[in-house]
Amino acid sequence: MVLVPFFQNCVRLLALPIYVLSFLGYWDSICKRIFPYFISKFSKRYNQKLYKEKELLFSNLEDFTGPSGELLLLEIGAGSGANFQFYPPGCQVTCTDPNPNFQKYLQQSMAENRHLQYKRFVVAPGEDLHQVPDGSVDVVVCTLVLCSVASVPAILKEVLRILRRFKQLPGCSLSLKAYSQEMPEKQTLLYIWNFQLQ
Ligand SMILES: C[S@@+](CC[C@H](N)C(=O)[O-])C[C@H]1O[C@@H](n2cnc3c(N)ncnc32)[C@H](O)[C@@H]1O
Repeated sequence: MVLVPFFQNCVRLLALPIYVLSFLGYWDSICKRIFPYFISKFSKRYNQKLYKEKELLFSNLEDFTGPSGELLLLEIGAGSGANFQFYPPGCQVTCTDPNPNFQKYLQQSMAENRHLQYKRFVVAPGEDLHQVPDGSVDVVVCTLVLCSVASVPAILKEVLRILRRFKQLPGCSLSLKAYSQEMPEKQTLLYIWNFQLQ
């Protein structure tokens, strides 16, 4: 029992630099800088483990190709671009993320995925995508993001606004395909927004 206060003080001491940096207003920007590095490493391993599942999840993207023959895809919280390798050839990708420090990693992923056309990187949270016009994309992808956002309904509202098919076909309904339901044993938080005719 004597050891408990000792360990508590050890933890306090270890956490002290974080408190100081947070108090000085530096902690947030440090996290924003180092987070992309860790995500880029983590997503490589994660992609290896879930390769087959992701391949299946993204296998029908071409079904959403627009009348012009182009597939315009927007990814919310794109991170380091871990999903790029699963997108079909010629797919035009717009990336969004509130953290501008992901840009370097996105560019690296684009360089590794020459089968895609990189349109632009929008620095914005999914809750406010006002820089993206109404009905301007065919597919919206969002993986490993919704578990940690401020407002899922606000993001959904933006998804409905920017999707082309929803705008042109009012009879469409939004279906959230939760991969965790198909693979409960893995508890994977992997989502794809998809449209189906009612
Ligand atoms: C765990 S990473 C996942 C990255 C990528 N989607 C993937 O599957 O590898 C979470 C991402 O969500 C982004 N993010 C955090 N809050 C967000 C928000 N409100 N709207 C959009 N993206 C957000 C983070 O900056 C980060 O890039």
